[in-house]
Amino acid sequence: MLPEVKIIPGSLGSKSRIWIEKHHKYVATTTHDPEHLPLVIDRGEGVWLFDVDGNRYLDFSSGISVNNLGYPSHPEVLKAVEEQLHRLGHAAGTDFYNPYQVMLAEKLVSIAPGEKEKKVFFANSGTEANEAALKIVRQATGRKFIIAFLGAFHGRTYGSIALTASKTVHRKTFFPWMPGVIHVPYPNPYRNPWGINGYENPEELVNRVLEYIEEYVFDKLVPPEEVAAVFTEPIQGEGGYVVPPKQFFPELKKLLDKYGILLVDDEVQMGLGRTGEMFAINHFKVVPDIISLAKALSGGLIPIGATIFRADLDFKEPGMHSNTFGGNALASIAALKTIEVIEKLLPNIKKLEPLFRETLTEWRNKYEFIGDARGLGLAWAIEIVKDKKSKKPDPSRRGKILRNALNKGLVLLGCGKSAIRLIPPLIIDEEHAKIGLEILEKAIREA
Ligand SMILES: Cc1ncc(COP(=O)(O)O)c(C=O)c1O
Repeated sequence: MLPEVKIIPGSLGSKSRIWIEKHHKYVATTTHDPEHLPLVIDRGEGVWLFDVDGNRYLDFSSGISVNNLGYPSHPEVLKAVEEQLHRLGHAAGTDFYNPYQVMLAEKLVSIAPGEKEKKVFFANSGTEANEAALKIVRQATGRKFIIAFLGAFHGRTYGSIALTASKTVHRKTFFPWMPGVIHVPYPNPYRNPWGINGYENPEELVNRVLEYIEEYVFDKLVPPEEVAAVFTEPIQGEGGYVVPPKQFFPELKKLLDKYGILLVDDEVQMGLGRTGEMFAINHFKVVPDIISLAKALSGGLIPIGATIFRADLDFKEPGMHSNTFGGNALASIAALKTIEVIEKLLPNIKKLEPLFRETLTEWRNKYEFIGDARGLGLAWAIEIVKDKKSKKPDPSRRGKILRNALNKGLVLLGCGKSAIRLIPPLIIDEEHAKIGLEILEKAIREA
């Protein structure tokens, strides 16, 4: 018998409504959708969240893949942070030295794929980790152009927004952003410009994308010798949890190596165990030149980002790039412990993957309005469509499902135009997973 998820009848929204109203009065408009998700989080405990009305929810959103160790964080991370709190927090890590950031850099270098020597730049967020990567590739290669993928999300500052191409609302009215970025189609097996079924014909899909880069970009737009790097997510996150065919990255890397173009792997959302590997790119057996991280890196406690790069690409002189908070001692200790905990959790993620794969595949076969089910590890999505044949996105039904699920005690987030992502904290057990899936199926049936 599964434990009941507790929602106090009729209470969802009473105290919450007051905070939501005040929020919209005093806090800048960002990405909240009060129509769909009126959740005011008071506190968290493991995989559970409690709102200000005292309702309890199972979390399948992990704070957009930040709270991967649950709430408020893993006990081992909390203990390490508490100890560090009384020792040293900010230590001007980009001007002076501290052992904590060195230990973290050494750890990141040791877990990153590839044998070549590497170094780390510390930042405070995903977008900032990608900004550093942009500077590194331009100064190291002397080339100016960058290739990124349609559907990508790499951040919202003026460099990374030039790479981001998942929704026009992100870019609306903000032009001009950093020039020199060329977007190409991502090998989305379900939805691509050529109408190829990428699950049945993965090679054809991969070839089309690579041909596009060679025949359209390199032949008609810019010579490959002027392209510094390709930025990519190993699995597109905000774009809809899109998993490319296995052979895509090895084939892409071959093409890039031919022209001396660097591969930047944005693991901000998919890295650090989310897919069952420490880095999602490991599923594809490819070694990128640069990796960006953020989100889950410090166990959901302290903002931190990191850019891990080949040592020979390092900034040529001090002062070319820096920041204030990079190498923060408290964040570094939190991150170090977080990585150790994730290393222990990887088997749990792999163990739970089949439950998600089988359940979501079954739903895709059963429900006419679930067009696609995809994912790896504990990074899953279902795509809500009008019907299987037209594949027309149905954001309105998606919204209803999210809201239904919330009312039943399950926290979820959308992604892409009409997908729902299932990204529980990596500490969930089978029972939690089954409760969440059961609630979600009820929410789907009612929508
Ligand atoms: C893949 C990816 N890169 C970069 C970012 C930007 O990170 P941040 O919001 O910390 O700037 C995100 C955020 O969702 C992301 O998913």
